Amino acid sequence: MDRNELYRDIIADVRTLLKARTHPRRRTIALSPEAAAWLQAIPGPSTVDTASAPAPAAPEPGPATLGKAPTAAPVDGPDDREAALAEAARRVSACTKCALCETRTQTVFSDGSPWARLAFVGEAPGADEDRQGTPFVGRAGQLLTDIITKGMRIHRSEVYICNVLKCRPPGNRDPQPEEIASCEPYLREQLRLVQPEVICALGSFAARFLTGLDLPLGRLRGSWREYEGIPVRVTYHPSYLLRNPSAKKQAWEDIQEIMRRLQLPIQG
Ligand code: URA
Repeated sequence: MDRNELYRDIIADVRTLLKARTHPRRRTIALSPEAAAWLQAIPGPSTVDTASAPAPAAPEPGPATLGKAPTAAPVDGPDDREAALAEAARRVSACTKCALCETRTQTVFSDGSPWARLAFVGEAPGADEDRQGTPFVGRAGQLLTDIITKGMRIHRSEVYICNVLKCRPPGNRDPQPEEIASCEPYLREQLRLVQPEVICALGSFAARFLTGLDLPLGRLRGSWREYEGIPVRVTYHPSYLLRNPSAKKQAWEDIQEIMRRLQLPIQG
């Protein structure tokens, strides 16, 4: 294959990739780190030795990808959601709307991709999150990470992760209604900017917030719900799963429903 044919093939592959990954509402495409490395390894057009450049090695098949991986290529212009989310995070960090601002170490805004197809919404930061400023980094966070990476076989950086509350309730007590009401505009703004295709509500506080239904978690899970036109699947909070491992089977069924909805491959 000469260099021109090689470039034609590469361009055809990239066009297929772009078409598969673009979405009417999204201005960037998702690239796994492997795909990004592969594209970067493609030699640019050369005026010297045009025939002998070796073809780049194909990447090893990796996990399925979803949403924006560490590298995202602009498709049809810049997307300002990253800046809008950064601005929202800045406002949250200065928030004094409820008493939690007096006891927090720092606010905990989000983790993951602003272009994620899937958003996980939890309850509130715990001690580890309050210390590190990132949601779901403690024991429950490790379980959520395992669900994402080992169960769904996607990268944690490809999903969007946030909480109903942005500050830790002292002693990890339940969020109070007035705290939820104060924080509500922030979560709504996050979801409006990210526009995920699917939201996974982790635990009853997120489930009730997102569905607007004051029902026990057992009644909220098991079917598709809706938040502002976005499909919502409710599942158990990872902290609950740590205390009740027998519920993991049902949680995995919930996650598989989400994977089917997102057309992610389900293995074994
Ligand atoms: N539990 C949550 O609901 N959110 C976190 O970020 C951590 C633990």
